[in-house]
Amino acid sequence: MLAYRHAFHAGNHADVLKHVVLIQVLRYMAQKDKPFTLIDTHAGAGGYSLESRYANKRAEYANGIARLWEADAAALPPALADYVSLVRAFNGGGNLEQYPGSPGFANLLLRPQDRLRLFELHPTDHRILDAFLGARPNTQATMGDGFAAIRSELPPPGSRRAVLLVDPSYEIKSDYAKVVGALREALTRMADCVVMIWYPQLTTVDSVQLPHRLQSAADALARKGWLHARLTVQQPDARGFGLIGSGVFIANPPHVLHAELGALMQPLVDRLGQYDAAHYLLEQRAA
Ligand SMILES: C[S@@+](CC[C@H](N)C(=O)[O-])C[C@H]1O[C@@H](n2cnc3c(N)ncnc32)[C@H](O)[C@@H]1O
Repeated sequence: MLAYRHAFHAGNHADVLKHVVLIQVLRYMAQKDKPFTLIDTHAGAGGYSLESRYANKRAEYANGIARLWEADAAALPPALADYVSLVRAFNGGGNLEQYPGSPGFANLLLRPQDRLRLFELHPTDHRILDAFLGARPNTQATMGDGFAAIRSELPPPGSRRAVLLVDPSYEIKSDYAKVVGALREALTRMADCVVMIWYPQLTTVDSVQLPHRLQSAADALARKGWLHARLTVQQPDARGFGLIGSGVFIANPPHVLHAELGALMQPLVDRLGQYDAAHYLLEQRAA
């Protein structure tokens, strides 16, 4: 039973961090002529209306993309300005009415020769995704389990260049163990695959331990090290619960990514922080 719908959360602070990083990874991959494959194991609907009853229920985007939308591009670090300009492109240059999901950003950044493999389990979101991108060249939008797909998708045929985005909802506790398994599986099949894993920052043991478990797996298996970026925007609620931030873990990151994120994490804290002690963490282990 899938209760999670990303439409409620589209464009929130966690999407901002995840998509800023994804964009820089895809830009780096597209610098070489050789095609690459992007496998998005938990793709969602591909794009979301910010005017829908879902998005407006808690208006999470108001504390995310909306806080960057009006910023003068010249005042933003280049990678943040790049992110906002792609959201603008998705909106056709008009008002902030729609927000691209990870497949929406991929559609803007992948070249015709690149392969896009999208997996989504929710029938409604899969239908929307397939209508949006199913006819795109070199693209497949499959209604199926993205974790299970890693085995059949890696390594990709042709050029051995691949990015794996693993972005589950963590509505099921077993997702924490599954993302560690996914990282191991991916790196065992392809030690230089760029693997990007998003996770929610909560005060639970699972959430706190996850980055350490990912680091151990990457230490053992990744050919080119790892990078971990976490953005903490608010404090837990009175009961100690709530999404206080989010993190992105990347195995085999582009070598330029640490410097790019180094320039934008504090500006993200300044713009997205919801309490005085908002902060970030940026750490890496080089190959
Ligand atoms: C966090 S959302 C994805 C957001 C998307 N990656 C983006 O950045 O726009 C997680 C999605 O995974 C879907 N999902 C949950 N379990 C899945 C599974 N095992 N395989 C594929 N999709 C799954 C959910 O229905 C939901 O749409």
